[in-house]
Amino acid sequence: MTETRSHQAVLLNEAVAALNIKESGCYIDGTFGRGGHSQLIMQALGSKGCLLAIDKDLAAVESSRSLFANDHRFIIEQGSFAMLRRFTDQHGLTGKVDGILLDLGVSSPQLDTAERGFSFMQDGPLDMRMDTTSGMSAAEWLAQAEDREIAQVLKNYGEERFAKRIARAIVAARAEAAIESTGQLAAIIAQANPVKEPGRNHATRSFQAIRIFINRELDDLHDCLDQVLQVLALGGRLVVISFHSLEDRIVKRFMRNHARGDDFPVGVPVTQDQLQPRLKLMSKAIRPSAAEVDLNPRSRSAVLRVAECPL
Ligand SMILES: C[S@@+](CC[C@H](N)C(=O)[O-])C[C@H]1O[C@@H](n2cnc3c(N)ncnc32)[C@H](O)[C@@H]1O
Repeated sequence: MTETRSHQAVLLNEAVAALNIKESGCYIDGTFGRGGHSQLIMQALGSKGCLLAIDKDLAAVESSRSLFANDHRFIIEQGSFAMLRRFTDQHGLTGKVDGILLDLGVSSPQLDTAERGFSFMQDGPLDMRMDTTSGMSAAEWLAQAEDREIAQVLKNYGEERFAKRIARAIVAARAEAAIESTGQLAAIIAQANPVKEPGRNHATRSFQAIRIFINRELDDLHDCLDQVLQVLALGGRLVVISFHSLEDRIVKRFMRNHARGDDFPVGVPVTQDQLQPRLKLMSKAIRPSAAEVDLNPRSRSAVLRVAECPL
């Protein structure tokens, strides 16, 4: 498989600055990708610092070998950031982590490599798995899912208003021939869609929805956030870059709820201290500059949020 392009890290300086790196600190990059953020974190670390990187994608893990081959400060694990606590337990880091970065979604090499099956722009096998070692491919799922289930995924994860119509078209098409390529699926979606939208491909929302479902993207995010407070040290930071409103809503709610602290019955007088907030919001949402969006249009929907475990 040939990789066509590398990944341009989004909000690179902003995200690494938000981690507030201490030279001898210990950090986690939960979405290594091609290591854009990891490289900057490593530059800021001294000889006693450490970085545990995680990625679901074998190609991402492989790419780290040439970057940090013999660097004793760097560890990489293949798997989901939903296994955060398992990885930190394994490396004796639980409760000792000074910062966690999640740069959600897919990388450019995943999108731009036709054989990975993420893109409707190039024809390739309909796979869409970040972790090709486990789970069902998009083709396998579409071959057996009921039209109601397909419609629900398209609506919930893609906010696709023609979800039912597209789902019915998929079920009708697969009765004629198996849907095995991104090109086939894109053509079925285009035909089922009654409205032409200038400047937008019909398949954008449906491909995003199927990708989110196949990779359990929102479930993994929930599972990871549930473990973050056990893993961070006091003063540790959580930095998350989201690329669509579904992810951002989860991150925003998580940070806001933990910054508000415990729930008390209405009318019970409590001080801020008694609420015991577990996080402190460190800034408003940060978005890429116009200059960054010009240079890297894929950054346009990015939103960065930062919170800290109070000392
Ligand atoms: C936007 S890219 C990250 C790019 C990276 N920050 C860089 O600068 O190169 C997202 C990466 O996260 C990985 N990923 C997405 N969800 C994941 C999850 N639940 N667990 C582990 N890795 C995940 C993807 O495989 C992809 O490589």
